[in-house]
Amino acid sequence: MSVKITETVLRDAHQSLLATRMRTRDMLEVVEQLDQIGYFSLEMWGGATFDSCIRYLNEDPWQRLRDIKKRMDNTCAQMLLRGQNLVGYRHYSDDVVEKFVIKSFENGIDIFRIFDAVNDIRNMELSIKVAKSLGAHVQGTVCYTISPVHTVEKYVELAKQLEELECDSLCIKDMAGLLSPNDATKIISAIKKEISIPISLHCHCTSGMAPMSYMAACGAGVDVLDTALSPLAWGTSQPPTETVVAALKGTPYDTGLDLGAFEEVVDYFKALKEKYRGILDPISEQIDTNVLIYQIPGGMLSNLVSQLKEQNALDKYKAVLDEMPRVRGELGYPPLVTPTSQIVGTQAVLNVLMGERYKVIPKEVKDYVRGLYGRSPAPLSPEIVYKIIGDEEPIHCRPADLLKPEYEKRKKEAEEMGIAKSEEDILTYILYPAIAPKFLKGEMEEEELAVVSSHTPAVKMEYTIPTHFKVEVDDEVYEVKVEPLGGGVSISELSSKKPGAESVKGAICCSMQGMVLSLKVKIEDIVAEGDTVAVIEAMKMENTVHASHSGIVKEIFVAEGDSVSPGDIIMAIE
Ligand code: CO
Repeated sequence: MSVKITETVLRDAHQSLLATRMRTRDMLEVVEQLDQIGYFSLEMWGGATFDSCIRYLNEDPWQRLRDIKKRMDNTCAQMLLRGQNLVGYRHYSDDVVEKFVIKSFENGIDIFRIFDAVNDIRNMELSIKVAKSLGAHVQGTVCYTISPVHTVEKYVELAKQLEELECDSLCIKDMAGLLSPNDATKIISAIKKEISIPISLHCHCTSGMAPMSYMAACGAGVDVLDTALSPLAWGTSQPPTETVVAALKGTPYDTGLDLGAFEEVVDYFKALKEKYRGILDPISEQIDTNVLIYQIPGGMLSNLVSQLKEQNALDKYKAVLDEMPRVRGELGYPPLVTPTSQIVGTQAVLNVLMGERYKVIPKEVKDYVRGLYGRSPAPLSPEIVYKIIGDEEPIHCRPADLLKPEYEKRKKEAEEMGIAKSEEDILTYILYPAIAPKFLKGEMEEEELAVVSSHTPAVKMEYTIPTHFKVEVDDEVYEVKVEPLGGGVSISELSSKKPGAESVKGAICCSMQGMVLSLKVKIEDIVAEGDTVAVIEAMKMENTVHASHSGIVKEIFVAEGDSVSPGDIIMAIE
Protein backbone atom coordinates (compact mmCIF):
# COMPACT_ATOMS: atom_id res chain seq x y z
CA MET A 1 0.00 0.00 0.00
CA SER A 2 1.79 3.08 -1.12
CA VAL A 3 1.93 6.13 1.11
CA LYS A 4 1.08 9.58 -0.25
CA ILE A 5 2.71 12.89 0.59
CA THR A 6 1.24 16.26 1.55
CA GLU A 7 3.84 19.00 0.97
CA THR A 8 3.72 21.79 3.56
CA VAL A 9 6.50 24.07 2.28
CA LEU A 10 4.08 26.84 1.30
CA ARG A 11 2.23 26.90 4.63
CA ASP A 12 3.33 25.10 7.78
CA ALA A 13 7.06 24.96 7.00
CA HIS A 14 7.47 28.72 6.73
CA GLN A 15 4.92 29.30 9.48
CA SER A 16 7.10 27.14 11.73
CA LEU A 17 10.54 28.41 10.72
CA LEU A 18 10.09 31.80 9.06
CA ALA A 19 7.33 33.39 11.14
CA THR A 20 4.85 32.87 8.25
CA ARG A 21 6.59 35.55 6.22
CA MET A 22 7.09 33.87 2.83
CA ARG A 23 5.85 36.21 0.12
CA THR A 24 3.38 35.12 -2.55
CA ARG A 25 5.79 36.14 -5.32
CA ASP A 26 8.35 33.73 -3.87
CA MET A 27 5.76 30.96 -3.98
CA LEU A 28 4.48 31.63 -7.47
CA GLU A 29 7.89 31.09 -9.02
CA VAL A 30 7.93 27.49 -7.89
CA VAL A 31 4.28 26.37 -7.78
CA GLU A 32 4.28 24.85 -11.27
CA GLN A 33 7.33 22.75 -10.43
CA LEU A 34 5.81 21.62 -7.14
CA ASP A 35 2.66 20.72 -9.04
CA GLN A 36 4.68 18.34 -11.23
CA ILE A 37 6.14 16.29 -8.35
CA GLY A 38 3.15 14.07 -7.81
CA TYR A 39 2.12 15.04 -4.30
CA PHE A 40 -1.24 14.05 -2.90
CA SER A 41 -1.76 17.68 -1.91
CA LEU A 42 0.00 20.99 -1.45
CA GLU A 43 -0.83 22.76 1.79
CA MET A 44 -0.68 26.43 0.85
CA TRP A 45 -3.30 28.42 2.73
CA GLY A 46 -4.95 28.91 6.11
CA GLY A 47 -3.42 28.68 9.55
CA ALA A 48 -1.48 31.86 10.21
CA THR A 49 -0.92 32.74 6.54
CA PHE A 50 -4.12 34.77 6.29
CA ASP A 51 -3.21 36.89 9.31
CA SER A 52 0.40 37.32 8.20
CA CYS A 53 -0.61 38.46 4.70
CA ILE A 54 -2.60 41.44 5.89
CA ARG A 55 -0.64 42.20 9.07
CA TYR A 56 2.90 42.13 7.71
CA LEU A 57 3.08 41.54 3.97
CA ASN A 58 0.47 43.90 2.54
CA GLU A 59 -0.81 40.99 0.49
CA ASP A 60 -4.37 39.95 -0.16
CA PRO A 61 -4.64 36.35 1.11
CA TRP A 62 -7.47 35.65 -1.35
CA GLN A 63 -5.33 36.82 -4.24
CA ARG A 64 -2.55 34.51 -3.02
CA LEU A 65 -4.96 31.59 -3.09
CA ARG A 66 -6.20 32.39 -6.59
CA ASP A 67 -2.70 32.99 -7.96
CA ILE A 68 -1.31 29.74 -6.60
CA LYS A 69 -4.36 27.74 -7.64
CA LYS A 70 -4.10 29.06 -11.20
CA ARG A 71 -0.69 27.40 -11.48
CA MET A 72 -1.81 24.02 -10.15
CA ASP A 73 -3.21 21.42 -12.55
CA ASN A 74 -2.34 18.11 -10.90
CA THR A 75 -2.25 18.61 -7.16
CA CYS A 76 -4.99 19.30 -4.64
CA ALA A 77 -4.83 22.69 -2.93
CA GLN A 78 -5.13 22.23 0.82
CA MET A 79 -5.84 24.62 3.66
CA LEU A 80 -5.83 24.46 7.45
CA LEU A 81 -9.06 25.72 9.00
CA ARG A 82 -9.53 26.21 12.74
CA GLY A 83 -13.16 25.06 12.76
CA GLN A 84 -15.48 27.77 14.06
CA ASN A 85 -12.38 30.01 14.51
CA LEU A 86 -11.73 29.90 10.73
CA VAL A 87 -8.35 31.61 10.33
CA GLY A 88 -8.86 33.96 13.26
CA TYR A 89 -8.71 33.66 17.01
CA ARG A 90 -12.31 33.67 18.15
CA HIS A 91 -15.51 31.86 17.33
CA TYR A 92 -17.41 33.36 14.44
CA SER A 93 -21.14 33.20 13.93
CA ASP A 94 -22.49 30.43 11.71
CA ASP A 95 -23.32 32.72 8.78
CA VAL A 96 -19.71 33.94 8.68
CA VAL A 97 -18.34 30.40 8.88
CA GLU A 98 -20.60 29.32 6.05
CA LYS A 99 -19.64 32.27 3.86
CA PHE A 100 -15.92 31.82 4.55
CA VAL A 101 -15.93 28.13 3.63
CA ILE A 102 -17.90 28.83 0.44
CA LYS A 103 -15.51 31.60 -0.61
CA SER A 104 -12.43 29.51 0.21
CA PHE A 105 -13.81 26.75 -1.98
CA GLU A 106 -14.74 29.12 -4.80
CA ASN A 107 -11.27 30.67 -4.73
CA GLY A 108 -9.61 27.30 -5.09
CA ILE A 109 -9.38 25.15 -1.95
CA ASP A 110 -9.86 21.43 -2.69
CA ILE A 111 -9.05 19.95 0.72
CA PHE A 112 -10.20 21.46 3.98
CA ARG A 113 -8.24 20.20 6.97
CA ILE A 114 -10.51 21.16 9.84
CA PHE A 115 -9.56 21.04 13.52
CA ASP A 116 -10.59 22.43 16.86
CA ALA A 117 -8.07 23.32 19.55
CA VAL A 118 -9.87 21.39 22.29
CA ASN A 119 -11.11 18.61 19.96
CA ASP A 120 -14.71 19.70 20.54
CA ILE A 121 -16.46 18.20 17.54
CA ARG A 122 -19.33 20.70 17.91
CA ASN A 123 -16.90 23.45 16.86
CA MET A 124 -16.10 21.61 13.63
CA GLU A 125 -19.52 20.36 12.59
CA LEU A 126 -20.68 23.38 10.61
CA SER A 127 -17.51 23.93 8.57
CA ILE A 128 -17.41 20.20 7.82
CA LYS A 129 -21.03 20.24 6.70
CA VAL A 130 -20.63 23.30 4.48
CA ALA A 131 -17.41 22.06 2.85
CA LYS A 132 -19.03 18.66 2.26
CA SER A 133 -22.07 20.25 0.65
CA LEU A 134 -19.76 22.03 -1.83
CA GLY A 135 -18.14 18.76 -2.83
CA ALA A 136 -14.78 19.54 -1.23
CA HIS A 137 -12.59 16.89 0.38
CA VAL A 138 -12.95 17.29 4.15
CA GLN A 139 -10.20 16.10 6.42
CA GLY A 140 -11.53 15.91 9.98
CA THR A 141 -8.66 16.47 12.36
CA VAL A 142 -7.79 15.32 15.85
CA CYS A 143 -5.20 17.32 17.79
CA TYR A 144 -2.72 15.04 19.49
CA THR A 145 -1.46 15.75 22.96
CA ILE A 146 -0.38 13.88 26.07
CA SER A 147 -2.46 13.97 29.24
CA PRO A 148 -4.27 11.61 31.60
CA VAL A 149 -7.48 12.07 29.58
CA HIS A 150 -5.95 11.68 26.10
CA THR A 151 -6.05 7.91 25.83
CA VAL A 152 -6.00 5.70 22.75
CA GLU A 153 -9.73 5.09 23.32
CA LYS A 154 -10.35 8.84 23.29
CA TYR A 155 -8.64 9.24 19.91
CA VAL A 156 -10.58 6.30 18.48
CA GLU A 157 -13.83 7.82 19.70
CA LEU A 158 -13.00 11.20 18.09
CA ALA A 159 -12.02 9.49 14.83
CA LYS A 160 -15.31 7.61 14.72
CA GLN A 161 -17.27 10.81 15.32
CA LEU A 162 -15.48 12.51 12.43
CA GLU A 163 -16.17 9.59 10.12
CA GLU A 164 -19.84 9.74 11.11
CA LEU A 165 -19.83 13.38 10.01
CA GLU A 166 -18.85 12.07 6.56
CA CYS A 167 -15.30 13.38 6.60
CA ASP A 168 -13.37 12.05 3.59
CA SER A 169 -10.22 11.47 5.59
CA LEU A 170 -8.84 11.82 9.10
CA CYS A 171 -5.77 13.77 10.18
CA ILE A 172 -3.82 13.23 13.37
CA LYS A 173 -2.21 16.57 14.07
CA ASP A 174 0.86 16.49 16.29
CA MET A 175 1.62 20.18 16.41
CA ALA A 176 4.13 20.00 19.25
CA GLY A 177 6.07 16.95 18.05
CA LEU A 178 5.01 14.80 20.99
CA LEU A 179 3.98 11.63 19.18
CA SER A 180 6.39 8.74 19.83
CA PRO A 181 6.79 5.86 17.36
CA ASN A 182 5.17 3.52 19.86
CA ASP A 183 2.14 5.76 20.35
CA ALA A 184 1.89 6.30 16.58
CA THR A 185 1.64 2.53 16.17
CA LYS A 186 -0.91 2.13 18.96
CA ILE A 187 -3.16 5.00 17.98
CA ILE A 188 -3.13 4.48 14.22
CA SER A 189 -3.61 0.70 14.51
CA ALA A 190 -6.53 1.20 16.89
CA ILE A 191 -8.18 3.84 14.68
CA LYS A 192 -7.61 1.77 11.51
CA LYS A 193 -9.65 -1.05 13.07
CA GLU A 194 -12.62 1.24 13.61
CA ILE A 195 -12.80 3.55 10.60
CA SER A 196 -12.42 3.06 6.87
CA ILE A 197 -11.45 6.56 5.67
CA PRO A 198 -7.74 7.27 4.94
CA ILE A 199 -5.53 8.63 7.70
CA SER A 200 -3.05 11.51 7.37
CA LEU A 201 -0.32 12.10 9.93
CA HIS A 202 0.99 15.59 10.55
CA CYS A 203 4.02 15.77 12.85
CA HIS A 204 6.54 18.44 13.75
CA CYS A 205 10.17 17.47 14.37
CA THR A 206 10.45 19.45 17.59
CA SER A 207 11.43 16.47 19.77
CA GLY A 208 13.27 14.75 16.91
CA MET A 209 11.02 11.68 16.91
CA ALA A 210 8.87 12.53 13.88
CA PRO A 211 10.79 10.58 11.20
CA MET A 212 10.70 7.48 13.41
CA SER A 213 7.05 8.00 14.20
CA TYR A 214 6.37 8.28 10.45
CA MET A 215 8.04 4.92 9.88
CA ALA A 216 5.98 3.39 12.69
CA ALA A 217 2.84 4.98 11.28
CA CYS A 218 3.56 3.35 7.91
CA GLY A 219 3.66 -0.02 9.62
CA ALA A 220 0.33 0.75 11.27
CA GLY A 221 -1.30 1.63 7.95
CA VAL A 222 -1.11 5.40 7.65
CA ASP A 223 -2.16 6.66 4.20
CA VAL A 224 -0.68 10.15 3.91
CA LEU A 225 2.36 11.80 5.56
CA ASP A 226 2.97 15.54 5.84
CA THR A 227 6.49 16.60 4.91
CA ALA A 228 8.37 19.77 3.96
CA LEU A 229 11.15 20.11 1.39
CA SER A 230 14.46 19.74 3.25
CA PRO A 231 15.61 23.39 3.27
CA LEU A 232 12.51 24.21 5.32
CA ALA A 233 12.21 20.95 7.25
CA TRP A 234 13.36 19.68 10.67
CA GLY A 235 13.22 21.62 13.92
CA THR A 236 9.74 22.95 14.56
CA SER A 237 8.78 22.13 10.94
CA GLN A 238 7.91 18.77 9.32
CA PRO A 239 10.27 15.88 8.42
CA PRO A 240 12.04 16.43 5.07
CA THR A 241 10.14 15.32 2.00
CA GLU A 242 13.11 13.84 0.11
CA THR A 243 14.28 11.90 3.19
CA VAL A 244 10.86 10.35 3.73
CA VAL A 245 10.55 9.52 0.03
CA ALA A 246 14.03 7.92 0.06
CA ALA A 247 13.41 6.00 3.29
CA LEU A 248 10.24 4.43 1.96
CA LYS A 249 11.72 3.53 -1.43
CA GLY A 250 11.42 -0.17 -2.16
CA THR A 251 9.23 -0.82 0.88
CA PRO A 252 5.52 -1.63 0.74
CA TYR A 253 4.97 2.06 1.59
CA ASP A 254 6.94 3.41 -1.41
CA THR A 255 5.57 6.87 -2.29
CA GLY A 256 6.25 6.30 -5.97
CA LEU A 257 7.85 9.76 -6.16
CA ASP A 258 11.11 10.18 -8.04
CA LEU A 259 13.95 11.51 -5.88
CA GLY A 260 15.50 13.20 -8.91
CA ALA A 261 12.36 15.30 -9.31
CA PHE A 262 13.17 17.25 -6.16
CA GLU A 263 16.53 18.65 -7.23
CA GLU A 264 15.35 21.91 -8.70
CA VAL A 265 12.74 22.76 -6.10
CA VAL A 266 15.18 21.96 -3.29
CA ASP A 267 17.74 24.32 -4.85
CA TYR A 268 15.05 26.96 -5.12
CA PHE A 269 14.12 26.75 -1.45
CA LYS A 270 17.78 26.60 -0.38
CA ALA A 271 18.32 29.97 -2.03
CA LEU A 272 15.05 31.30 -0.67
CA LYS A 273 16.02 30.32 2.85
CA GLU A 274 19.08 32.54 2.57
CA LYS A 275 16.88 35.44 1.57
CA TYR A 276 14.82 34.94 4.72
CA ARG A 277 17.82 34.13 6.92
CA GLY A 278 17.24 37.20 9.09
CA ILE A 279 13.91 35.82 10.26
CA LEU A 280 15.06 32.28 10.85
CA ASP A 281 15.48 31.69 14.54
CA PRO A 282 18.28 29.12 14.97
CA ILE A 283 16.46 27.85 18.05
CA SER A 284 13.51 26.77 15.93
CA GLU A 285 15.84 24.50 13.95
CA GLN A 286 17.07 22.71 17.04
CA ILE A 287 15.81 19.48 18.52
CA ASP A 288 14.33 19.92 21.96
CA THR A 289 13.22 16.93 24.01
CA ASN A 290 12.14 19.24 26.83
CA VAL A 291 8.90 19.47 24.92
CA LEU A 292 8.25 15.89 26.03
CA ILE A 293 8.80 16.71 29.68
CA TYR A 294 6.87 19.97 29.79
CA GLN A 295 4.58 19.46 26.81
CA ILE A 296 5.17 23.01 25.73
CA PRO A 297 5.67 23.75 22.04
CA GLY A 298 9.42 23.90 21.48
CA GLY A 299 9.70 27.40 20.10
CA MET A 300 7.85 28.89 23.01
CA LEU A 301 10.09 27.13 25.50
CA SER A 302 13.48 27.83 23.97
CA ASN A 303 12.68 31.45 23.35
CA LEU A 304 11.83 31.89 26.98
CA VAL A 305 15.16 30.34 27.97
CA SER A 306 17.22 32.66 25.81
CA GLN A 307 15.35 35.72 27.02
CA LEU A 308 15.73 34.82 30.67
CA LYS A 309 19.41 34.15 30.06
CA GLU A 310 19.99 37.51 28.41
CA GLN A 311 18.49 39.16 31.43
CA ASN A 312 20.41 37.09 33.90
CA ALA A 313 17.14 35.85 35.32
CA LEU A 314 17.37 32.15 34.74
CA ASP A 315 16.05 31.63 38.25
CA LYS A 316 12.59 32.28 36.78
CA TYR A 317 13.04 29.65 34.07
CA LYS A 318 12.27 26.63 36.20
CA ALA A 319 9.31 28.42 37.75
CA VAL A 320 7.80 29.15 34.33
CA LEU A 321 8.48 25.59 33.16
CA ASP A 322 6.73 24.16 36.19
CA GLU A 323 3.90 26.61 35.86
CA MET A 324 2.93 25.77 32.24
CA PRO A 325 1.84 22.15 32.83
CA ARG A 326 0.23 23.22 36.09
CA VAL A 327 -1.92 25.82 34.33
CA ARG A 328 -2.65 23.39 31.53
CA GLY A 329 -3.83 20.78 34.03
CA GLU A 330 -5.98 23.31 35.85
CA LEU A 331 -7.53 24.31 32.52
CA GLY A 332 -8.47 20.70 31.72
CA TYR A 333 -5.46 19.62 29.60
CA PRO A 334 -6.21 21.43 26.34
CA PRO A 335 -3.91 20.45 23.46
CA LEU A 336 -1.49 23.35 22.98
CA VAL A 337 -2.33 24.80 19.58
CA THR A 338 -3.72 28.17 18.48
CA PRO A 339 -5.47 29.60 20.46
CA THR A 340 -5.09 27.38 23.55
CA SER A 341 -1.28 27.61 23.38
CA GLN A 342 -1.57 31.37 23.90
CA ILE A 343 -4.19 30.95 26.60
CA VAL A 344 -2.10 28.55 28.68
CA GLY A 345 1.29 30.08 27.85
CA THR A 346 0.36 33.66 28.61
CA GLN A 347 -1.37 32.76 31.85
CA ALA A 348 1.62 30.73 33.02
CA VAL A 349 4.06 33.54 32.27
CA LEU A 350 1.81 36.05 34.03
CA ASN A 351 1.42 33.76 37.06
CA VAL A 352 5.18 33.63 37.52
CA LEU A 353 6.01 37.22 36.66
CA MET A 354 3.29 38.74 38.80
CA GLY A 355 4.47 36.75 41.78
CA GLU A 356 0.93 35.56 42.44
CA ARG A 357 -1.07 32.99 40.50
CA TYR A 358 -4.08 34.27 38.56
CA LYS A 359 -3.57 37.81 39.80
CA VAL A 360 -3.82 39.04 36.22
CA ILE A 361 -6.09 37.07 33.92
CA PRO A 362 -6.47 37.95 30.21
CA LYS A 363 -9.96 38.04 28.76
CA GLU A 364 -9.27 34.96 26.62
CA VAL A 365 -8.45 32.87 29.68
CA LYS A 366 -11.73 33.95 31.29
CA ASP A 367 -13.63 33.17 28.09
CA TYR A 368 -12.01 29.74 27.93
CA VAL A 369 -13.20 29.02 31.48
CA ARG A 370 -16.63 30.40 30.60
CA GLY A 371 -16.81 27.62 28.00
CA LEU A 372 -16.66 29.99 25.05
CA TYR A 373 -13.98 27.91 23.28
CA GLY A 374 -15.87 24.66 23.79
CA ARG A 375 -15.65 21.79 26.21
CA SER A 376 -12.27 21.32 27.86
CA PRO A 377 -10.87 17.78 27.51
CA ALA A 378 -11.08 17.28 31.29
CA PRO A 379 -13.59 19.11 33.49
CA LEU A 380 -12.29 22.10 35.45
CA SER A 381 -12.40 22.05 39.23
CA PRO A 382 -15.01 24.38 40.83
CA GLU A 383 -12.14 26.10 42.68
CA ILE A 384 -10.34 27.08 39.50
CA VAL A 385 -13.57 28.20 37.82
CA TYR A 386 -14.33 30.39 40.82
CA LYS A 387 -10.82 31.80 40.88
CA ILE A 388 -11.05 32.86 37.25
CA ILE A 389 -14.67 33.89 36.68
CA GLY A 390 -16.11 34.09 40.21
CA ASP A 391 -19.80 33.30 40.47
CA GLU A 392 -20.41 33.37 36.72
CA GLU A 393 -21.94 30.20 35.33
CA PRO A 394 -19.96 28.63 32.44
CA ILE A 395 -21.94 27.74 29.33
CA HIS A 396 -22.48 24.16 28.23
CA CYS A 397 -23.89 24.62 24.74
CA ARG A 398 -21.94 24.87 21.47
CA PRO A 399 -20.28 28.30 21.80
CA ALA A 400 -21.45 29.53 18.39
CA ASP A 401 -25.08 28.92 19.40
CA LEU A 402 -24.77 32.10 21.45
CA LEU A 403 -23.55 34.18 18.52
CA LYS A 404 -25.96 36.29 16.49
CA PRO A 405 -25.51 36.35 12.72
CA GLU A 406 -23.00 39.08 11.94
CA TYR A 407 -22.21 38.93 8.24
CA GLU A 408 -24.83 41.47 7.10
CA LYS A 409 -24.07 43.85 9.92
CA ARG A 410 -20.33 43.82 9.22
CA LYS A 411 -20.95 44.05 5.51
CA LYS A 412 -22.84 47.29 6.10
CA GLU A 413 -20.02 48.61 8.26
CA ALA A 414 -17.44 47.75 5.64
CA GLU A 415 -19.51 49.36 2.90
CA GLU A 416 -19.94 52.51 4.94
CA MET A 417 -16.19 52.66 5.38
CA GLY A 418 -15.82 52.15 1.65
CA ILE A 419 -13.41 49.26 2.08
CA ALA A 420 -15.39 46.37 0.65
CA LYS A 421 -14.95 45.67 -3.02
CA SER A 422 -15.91 42.01 -2.74
CA GLU A 423 -17.38 39.45 -0.38
CA GLU A 424 -13.81 38.29 0.23
CA ASP A 425 -12.93 41.80 1.46
CA ILE A 426 -15.90 41.70 3.82
CA LEU A 427 -14.68 38.40 5.25
CA THR A 428 -11.18 39.81 5.67
CA TYR A 429 -12.74 42.70 7.57
CA ILE A 430 -14.84 40.41 9.77
CA LEU A 431 -11.82 38.27 10.64
CA TYR A 432 -9.45 41.15 11.34
CA PRO A 433 -11.58 44.24 12.07
CA ALA A 434 -8.69 46.14 13.64
CA ILE A 435 -6.08 45.78 10.91
CA ALA A 436 -8.17 45.04 7.81
CA PRO A 437 -9.48 48.59 7.16
CA LYS A 438 -5.97 49.99 6.81
CA PHE A 439 -5.00 47.07 4.58
CA LEU A 440 -8.13 47.26 2.42
CA LYS A 441 -7.67 51.00 1.95
CA GLY A 442 -4.21 50.29 0.59
CA GLU A 443 -2.50 52.14 3.41
CA MET A 444 -0.34 49.26 4.57
CA GLU A 445 3.25 48.75 3.60
CA GLU A 446 5.09 45.52 3.18
CA GLU A 447 7.27 44.85 6.17
CA GLU A 448 10.97 44.92 5.32
CA LEU A 449 12.65 41.57 5.53
CA ALA A 450 15.61 42.90 7.46
CA VAL A 451 13.57 44.27 10.33
CA VAL A 452 11.87 40.99 11.09
CA SER A 453 14.23 39.27 13.40
CA SER A 454 13.50 37.24 16.44
CA HIS A 455 17.03 38.06 17.47
CA THR A 456 16.69 41.77 17.95
CA PRO A 457 18.72 42.76 20.98
CA ALA A 458 16.80 42.74 24.22
CA VAL A 459 15.52 46.11 25.32
CA LYS A 460 17.91 47.76 27.73
CA MET A 461 17.01 46.82 31.26
CA GLU A 462 15.71 49.58 33.43
CA TYR A 463 15.18 47.42 36.45
CA THR A 464 17.20 44.88 38.33
CA ILE A 465 14.57 42.23 37.90
CA PRO A 466 13.31 41.05 34.50
CA THR A 467 10.64 43.23 33.01
CA HIS A 468 10.92 42.66 29.28
CA PHE A 469 10.11 39.31 27.85
CA LYS A 470 9.75 38.03 24.40
CA VAL A 471 7.13 35.36 24.24
CA GLU A 472 6.96 33.21 21.19
CA VAL A 473 3.59 31.96 20.12
CA ASP A 474 3.28 29.84 17.01
CA ASP A 475 6.66 31.06 15.88
CA GLU A 476 5.83 34.68 16.20
CA VAL A 477 7.65 36.70 18.77
CA TYR A 478 5.81 39.21 20.93
CA GLU A 479 7.42 41.57 23.32
CA VAL A 480 5.77 41.71 26.70
CA LYS A 481 6.61 44.14 29.39
CA VAL A 482 5.61 43.47 32.96
CA GLU A 483 6.40 45.57 35.96
CA PRO A 484 6.33 44.03 39.42
CA LEU A 485 4.06 45.62 42.00
CA GLY A 486 2.50 45.23 45.38
CA GLY A 487 -1.25 45.62 45.64
CA GLY A 488 -3.99 44.61 43.27
CA VAL A 489 -3.14 46.53 40.14
CA SER A 490 -3.34 45.16 36.62
CA ILE A 491 -0.40 45.14 34.24
CA SER A 492 -2.02 47.87 32.22
CA GLU A 493 -2.49 50.25 35.10
CA LEU A 494 1.03 50.37 36.34
CA SER A 495 2.27 51.75 33.10
CA SER A 496 1.49 55.32 34.05
CA LYS A 497 4.46 55.11 36.42
CA LYS A 498 6.79 54.57 33.52
CA PRO A 499 9.49 57.10 32.81
CA GLY A 500 8.57 59.25 29.85
CA ALA A 501 4.96 59.49 30.84
CA GLU A 502 5.71 62.53 33.03
CA SER A 503 5.90 64.73 29.98
CA VAL A 504 2.12 64.47 29.52
CA LYS A 505 -0.09 65.34 32.43
CA GLY A 506 -2.41 62.50 33.45
CA ALA A 507 -0.92 60.15 30.88
CA ILE A 508 -2.31 56.64 30.53
CA CYS A 509 0.33 54.47 28.91
CA CYS A 510 0.47 51.13 27.26
CA SER A 511 2.51 48.44 28.98
CA MET A 512 2.83 45.97 26.14
CA GLN A 513 3.70 45.69 22.50
CA GLY A 514 0.45 45.32 20.63
CA MET A 515 -2.28 47.01 18.70
CA VAL A 516 -5.15 49.24 19.79
CA LEU A 517 -8.21 47.09 19.25
CA SER A 518 -10.73 49.59 20.56
CA LEU A 519 -10.99 52.84 22.43
CA LYS A 520 -13.72 52.84 25.04
CA VAL A 521 -13.82 56.58 25.69
CA LYS A 522 -13.75 59.80 23.72
CA ILE A 523 -12.48 63.30 24.43
CA GLU A 524 -14.39 65.07 27.22
CA ASP A 525 -15.69 61.78 28.65
CA ILE A 526 -15.65 61.57 32.42
CA VAL A 527 -13.97 58.42 33.68
CA ALA A 528 -13.56 56.90 37.09
CA GLU A 529 -10.45 55.18 38.36
CA GLY A 530 -10.41 51.59 37.12
CA ASP A 531 -12.68 52.20 34.12
CA THR A 532 -11.69 50.40 30.95
CA VAL A 533 -10.47 53.06 28.54
CA ALA A 534 -8.99 50.94 25.78
CA VAL A 535 -8.40 47.36 24.69
CA ILE A 536 -4.95 46.35 23.42
CA GLU A 537 -4.38 43.20 21.45
CA ALA A 538 -1.06 41.69 22.51
CA MET A 539 0.13 38.12 22.13
CA LYS A 540 -3.15 37.59 20.27
CA MET A 541 -4.96 38.31 23.55
CA GLU A 542 -7.21 41.18 24.49
CA ASN A 543 -5.82 43.16 27.39
CA THR A 544 -7.85 45.95 28.91
CA VAL A 545 -6.26 49.26 29.81
CA HIS A 546 -7.79 50.83 32.90
CA ALA A 547 -7.77 54.43 34.00
CA SER A 548 -5.23 54.76 36.79
CA HIS A 549 -7.07 57.82 38.07
CA SER A 550 -10.42 59.59 37.59
CA GLY A 551 -10.86 62.68 35.50
CA ILE A 552 -11.82 63.97 32.09
CA VAL A 553 -10.34 62.62 28.89
CA LYS A 554 -8.33 65.58 27.57
CA GLU A 555 -6.54 64.07 24.66
CA ILE A 556 -6.29 60.73 22.86
CA PHE A 557 -2.99 59.97 21.16
CA VAL A 558 -3.79 56.74 19.34
CA ALA A 559 -6.42 55.47 16.96
CA GLU A 560 -7.96 52.04 16.69
CA GLY A 561 -5.64 49.87 14.65
CA ASP A 562 -2.47 51.69 15.72
CA SER A 563 0.53 49.71 16.84
CA VAL A 564 1.72 50.59 20.31
CA SER A 565 4.87 49.84 22.25
CA PRO A 566 5.52 49.70 25.96
CA GLY A 567 5.50 53.25 27.31
CA ASP A 568 3.46 54.79 24.50
CA ILE A 569 0.96 57.29 25.81
CA ILE A 570 -2.57 56.30 24.91
CA MET A 571 -4.45 59.25 26.35
CA ALA A 572 -4.38 61.99 28.92
CA ILE A 573 -6.94 62.03 31.72
CA GLU A 574 -6.97 65.07 33.98
CO1 CO B 1 1.58 21.99 11.95
